[in-house]
Amino acid sequence: MIIGNLKMNLSITEIDQYLDDIKEIKDDNFIIAPSFIYLNKFHGHVSCGQNCFYQNEGAYTGEVSPKQLKALGVDYVIIGHSERRQLFGETNEIIHQKIKGALANNLKVIFCIGDTLEEYQNKQTISALKKQLLIGLKDVEKNNIIIAYEPVWAIGSGLVPTNQEIMTAASCIQKILHTDANCTLPILYGGSVNLENIEKLNTIDNIDGFLVGTAAKEAKILKEIYNKTR
Ligand code: PGA
Repeated sequence: MIIGNLKMNLSITEIDQYLDDIKEIKDDNFIIAPSFIYLNKFHGHVSCGQNCFYQNEGAYTGEVSPKQLKALGVDYVIIGHSERRQLFGETNEIIHQKIKGALANNLKVIFCIGDTLEEYQNKQTISALKKQLLIGLKDVEKNNIIIAYEPVWAIGSGLVPTNQEIMTAASCIQKILHTDANCTLPILYGGSVNLENIEKLNTIDNIDGFLVGTAAKEAKILKEIYNKTR
């Protein structure tokens, strides 16, 4: 699975060009997360919201609800991205509410978790991931959840953990899921995935796909990344 997270990028004309560039790819595992305002253009592709609120409707100026996404034909939604956590004050509890709201509307959730640089340097990666997982997934049905392991320090930085570090993090995530929720879930890696490192990252056995940000801004590059994982 490759998810292109376009973040707050691209004008409407650039999005039209983007759609033209990806039009031949018809694969349920090639997914684009554009800004909300462009989601309606992505019929015929598998699309993903970059966020959503937890309520279905009401006086919440500026928010987009999971019900609205579902009605638009959107398939997935990213919840808990580190930019939401760090820049918009989203706590584990808020993220938990958002996951519940999205699942209640039959959206598939890309649940992002990750360690900060400080946690990484203090060897607290696993405890940080565990806390995020346990609060985020408390009492929720796990069928429609995909975990995205994204170290905060790797996002947009050009820094990438070693394959061994990613493999260890993914197996710890599965262990936590198994012990506390008696399930296993697909796990994606995200953080500075690009054309140069995708082949190496793609050899990690317990990683099921990639969440690509910066390198997804150009459709041609995202397509090349996708092709290298086939
Ligand atoms: P990046 O972003 O590829 O630019 O590191 C990944 C993400 O934010 O999901």
